[in-house]
Amino acid sequence: MPTETNAIQEDTMGRFEGKVAVVTGAGAGIGKACALAIAREGGRVVVADIDGSAATACTAQIAAEAGHSLALAIDIAEAQAVAALFDIAERHFSAVDLLVNNAGAMHLTPRDRAILDLDLAVWDQTMATNLRGTLLCCRQAIPGMIARGGGAIVNMSSCQGLSGDTALTSYAASKAAMNMLSASLATQYGHAQIRCNAVAPGLIMTERLLAKLDECMQRHLRRHQLLPRVGRPEDVAALVAFLLSEDAAFITGQVVCIDGGMLAHVPTYADGGNSRAARPSGETAEAAALQRC
Ligand SMILES: NC(=O)c1ccc[n+]([C@@H]2O[C@H](COP(=O)([O-])OP(=O)(O)OC[C@H]3O[C@@H](n4cnc5c(N)ncnc54)[C@H](O)[C@@H]3O)[C@@H](O)[C@H]2O)c1
Repeated sequence: MPTETNAIQEDTMGRFEGKVAVVTGAGAGIGKACALAIAREGGRVVVADIDGSAATACTAQIAAEAGHSLALAIDIAEAQAVAALFDIAERHFSAVDLLVNNAGAMHLTPRDRAILDLDLAVWDQTMATNLRGTLLCCRQAIPGMIARGGGAIVNMSSCQGLSGDTALTSYAASKAAMNMLSASLATQYGHAQIRCNAVAPGLIMTERLLAKLDECMQRHLRRHQLLPRVGRPEDVAALVAFLLSEDAAFITGQVVCIDGGMLAHVPTYADGGNSRAARPSGETAEAAALQRC
């Protein structure tokens, strides 16, 4: 059952005043940060997550900040559930103006392996959530957006969708396909004032990711960011809010990386440079630590 939080304060003005947003996977991590960012700027947010209690916890936090939201437990890979989500959103608030397709499945190795070792069930499940789920939500949102004269969609992709890897084959393929789905949507519905962009985060330290990655792996990943700090869910939420807002009114069909510079350099060359010369930041010491991992 949906649970609604208290009404937004009169004095809360922001870029999403009067707008209704659906954020999938908003019970935790990046999605939760996006839901909070939208609500803080006056948007009414449908917090959709397969984990109903996580969704409710997010709406409680929005309520504590005097925002307006609705929690729904839903698996975005299920067509009927997605149709019900948009139906409830429209009846409870009004037609959806903004959509963040954030819910995603990632099976860290050893499950999502190299192509010859890949379990097809992992491939199917990853595609069902990341690609089919995104498509289903877009298909439900577009007609209402057309009727209301426009809308904005952000699809949560990944740097993994822009470069090859030794594993995470299904995940990377699903994210690359999401990039093209975003471009197709932008191309097909731009005339109806619907904008669609993909956001490709690098390493973003959510609670769940922290629990999954050992210290050695975290150090290894941090080493190939150019900025000397970890990425935070709030960093991604700020970009998503920008792309959803009128500040980005002429931006559509793009894949925007937010990775601390991870994809801006070639690790092969950078590692070679590190082994030749010490750098004031102390990266050489980190490189030595990496060797010991
Ligand atoms: N954290 C990162 O470093 C990172 C990097 C690149 C891309 N991403 C992408 O960002 C998105 C969010 O990642 P996160 O790290 O915040 O994840 P997270 O695990 O912290 O949160 C994901 C949320 O989505 C929900 N969810 C999962 N499957 C669902 C489904 N089928 N239907 C509805 N809800 C579902 C989960 O219950 C969870 O609350 C994902 O699409 C992920 O691929 C994350």
